Amino acid sequence: MNNFQFCSPTEFVFGKDTEMQAGTYIKKHGGTKVLLHYGGSSAERSGLLGRVRQSLTEAGIPFAELGGVQPNPHDTLVYQGIELCRSEKIDFILAVGGGSVIDSSKAIAMGVPYSGDFWDFYSGKAEIAAALPVGTILTIAAAGSEGSGDSVITKTADGLKRGTGSDLIRPRFSILNPALTCTLPAYQTACGATDIMAHVFERYFTTTAEVEITDRLCEAVLLTMVRETPRVIAQPDNYDARANIMWAGTVAHTNICGVGRAQDWNSHMIEHELSALYDCAHGAGLAVIMPAWMEYVCPHGVMRFAQMAVRVWGCQMNFAHPESTAREGIMRFRRFLKSIGMPVNFAELGAKESDIPYLVEKTGIGTGRTGGFVSLGADDIAAIYRIAANAQA
Ligand code: NZQ
Ligand code: ZN
Repeated sequence: MNNFQFCSPTEFVFGKDTEMQAGTYIKKHGGTKVLLHYGGSSAERSGLLGRVRQSLTEAGIPFAELGGVQPNPHDTLVYQGIELCRSEKIDFILAVGGGSVIDSSKAIAMGVPYSGDFWDFYSGKAEIAAALPVGTILTIAAAGSEGSGDSVITKTADGLKRGTGSDLIRPRFSILNPALTCTLPAYQTACGATDIMAHVFERYFTTTAEVEITDRLCEAVLLTMVRETPRVIAQPDNYDARANIMWAGTVAHTNICGVGRAQDWNSHMIEHELSALYDCAHGAGLAVIMPAWMEYVCPHGVMRFAQMAVRVWGCQMNFAHPESTAREGIMRFRRFLKSIGMPVNFAELGAKESDIPYLVEKTGIGTGRTGGFVSLGADDIAAIYRIAANAQA
């Protein structure tokens, strides 16, 4: 196991009706004037925003509102949020929604105290040195942004989707009420489940030896997702299954499953170009990319893929031909994704094989290489897109 530093300062508040404690937790974490930031219509329609406004009012906390965050959130609304926070002298941001709303909130939070363009943090020009505190009320188990130090934003003018990270933007508190996720359509539930599993796989496929504890934590999250996702798709109101998935989503991405080991993240990088170009759900893009990446890199780590096949997908180990076990595990993963309603190839995602050269160019890889498990260049990335384009379950 490698040396590591792990900071997870977020206070998690889990369970039924916990959104009514939003005002209390904002006060506890020093907020005196709040930006209430949210997405399209789901939180208003379900009555959640009404309850949150009530909680803030009862706690005597003044607030301004900025709704309209789109999935794959854009920089344009972030600029508006930064101006609003400055003019209203806001000192705390409350995100009510999923990864998109939380990431937009984090971007506003880092932009307010910064004198330059907040995009500098995403383009690599500047490092985050300060940020307003952020709290979240999560409405979809997926991105893990409620416990992560990451934020992903799309620059509308250039069609670039980029991420940045710092412990400074980890939420101060996150309210996790699984009942809030019961209104999710099956497709969004499955997209979220895929993203959760991908966050584990990006950590699971490692070149670091002797990492039994994090291997087993990763496998626990994956097995939970394999069991619970079909249950919530069949029974959307199943609170206990929703609860297991919600906590799995957080555990998958605080990095507690990834400490002390090299990680990869190439599938995410390759996927982000799909959701930037086609505005598809991040999880749906991952459903197409992640198994394709696995097929492509499998020869470089046969025993690790065979371990996944046996421990997660219940395959019988073929000791004479471990690669056949490894490949069976990948196939079972893709079939699982199909069974929960995820796309398996470009056509099902709404992507075009003829766009592959453009997608590769957009990754910005140039003549460089990227990745922790297997290092990839532009030709490798193009090959993975081609596998994804033509995959069948
Ligand atoms: O906008 P509304 O009307 O709320 O609808 C949303 C949205 O259309 C809907 N939704 C959310 N909660 C709901 C609901 N509908 C009914 N009932 C509810 N309870 O779901 C749709 C998707 O929401 P979104 O926030 O986009 O989903 P997700 O949490 O998957 O976030 C995706 C974004 O997170 C980024 C992705 O790239 C993508 O931009 N990621 C962020 C990460 C991070 N910050 O750590 C890591 C991830 O790997 C990921 O890259
Ligand atoms: Zn993700």
